[in-house]
Amino acid sequence: MSDTYDVVVIGAGPAGENAADYAIQRGLTAAIVEAELVGGECSYWGCMPSKALLRPTEALEAAKRVPAAAAAITGEVDVAKVLQSRDAFTSNLDDQGQVDWLEGAGVRLVRGHGRLVGENDVEVTAQDGTVTRLEATKGVVIGVGTRAAHPPIDGLADVRTWDNREITGAKEIPGRLLVLGGGVIGVEMAQAFRRLGAAEVTVLEAMDGLLPREEPFVSDEVVAALDADGITVRLGARAEKVRRDGTDGPVTVTLAGGDELVGDELLVAVGRRAPTDDLGLDTVGVEPGRGGYIEVDDHLRVPGHDWLYVVGDANGRALLTHQGKYQARLVGDALAGIDVDPAWADVTATPRVVYTDPQVAAVGLTEAQAREAGHDVLTVSYNVGHTAGGALLGKGTDGTAQLVIDRERRTILGATFVGPGVGEMLHAATIAVVSEVTIERLWHAVPPFPAVSEVWLRLLEEVRKLDLAS
Ligand code: NAI
Repeated sequence: MSDTYDVVVIGAGPAGENAADYAIQRGLTAAIVEAELVGGECSYWGCMPSKALLRPTEALEAAKRVPAAAAAITGEVDVAKVLQSRDAFTSNLDDQGQVDWLEGAGVRLVRGHGRLVGENDVEVTAQDGTVTRLEATKGVVIGVGTRAAHPPIDGLADVRTWDNREITGAKEIPGRLLVLGGGVIGVEMAQAFRRLGAAEVTVLEAMDGLLPREEPFVSDEVVAALDADGITVRLGARAEKVRRDGTDGPVTVTLAGGDELVGDELLVAVGRRAPTDDLGLDTVGVEPGRGGYIEVDDHLRVPGHDWLYVVGDANGRALLTHQGKYQARLVGDALAGIDVDPAWADVTATPRVVYTDPQVAAVGLTEAQAREAGHDVLTVSYNVGHTAGGALLGKGTDGTAQLVIDRERRTILGATFVGPGVGEMLHAATIAVVSEVTIERLWHAVPPFPAVSEVWLRLLEEVRKLDLAS
């Protein structure tokens, strides 16, 4: 049996769902193929459960920083309730709500594993072996996301470990948690589990800083925050060997240099891989690159295959739900024949938020990336805790805000904020970067008093000081 749609999407994560929905909004027909849960990694094993695990203790710590409110805190966070709330945010791994949404949007859902068998031709094999053939008239969109990557460390493949799925779905808090990788998942989950009661949490990061793709001061400030929580951070830590006693006994990680660390669980968070091995890409002459990622052009199309699009993590451009959804909006329009401006489909203005306490929020280029790209760069920084709004948030409010400015064009190339709740401040910076607003014009965007966003004025004053001095 073969069914024909304008668009066939493989993968019903946030990116795939949006590609189908936007195509339909433009008057096309669309079918979507999903092998697991409609909603994807972010809804059930990523963004949503991880934030549900972080938010309760963040709220508690925010209250503790305000002395008069701190007096009212006489107990601990209710861990059982945190886990229940996490389960509510993930609908107990039931995707009916998302299926209803898809059907309401007019998308046909086909459950099973989708695989290309030719140009605009997809075969779906359901769990019971039933095969459905879907033909597309306008294009196929791949949005298969990523899975945790496992590095080739001696013994790692032979022992039971956790990745984002097990840790975000944990039924109890382990006593000793080892975290391999000090990237986004590593730092967020280290803090969540320590604050939810893990007695010992150790982060092992191979590079000389945490979150190594961000500004160097980010690492310093996050290390200090994790240290204050009682988390051990080992930088420059190269794991050489992993072993576990039985299935549930302690797990031991041996580092280069011989140090041994013992835990009850080991979280592997060293990056991702796109599951593109069994997608039938060979049938249309496409070969995924390193990490399984499929290369696309600025229209999110596979070069040489103008009917094949890749959105979200699987194209390796930016492993972030919001960026995947943005790509999907572009593709939905492109499939309907709308001429989209691909200028921002690259990574120039990608906003990123790490939901630790303090949060890390950044958009655009870091200072080093801007210099590497050949810009004549000016940077200014200011402590968010030194604003009136920061002081009102409570004692110990601290964190750097920094702007990276193109000296010639007087526009913002990148911005980074560290501090409590700064994720909500990021969108102003994203607008400034995308709109290429000049510093002179920004003088007239007046931040409210007494809000933490007054840091924008302080940053502009720092630019002015440099201008007056030169
Ligand atoms: P990541 O790429 O952010 O970090 C991996 C870290 O592991 C790097 O710092 C790397 O230097 C380190 N590493 C690699 N091999 C290692 C080894 N053998 N031993 C020790 N350290 C090693 O990847 P992660 O944390 O797995 O996250 C995956 C993706 O999920 C990220 O791209 C991120 O953008 C996304 N994500 C986003 C979140 C958010 O937006 N708040 C939250 C969680 C994940």
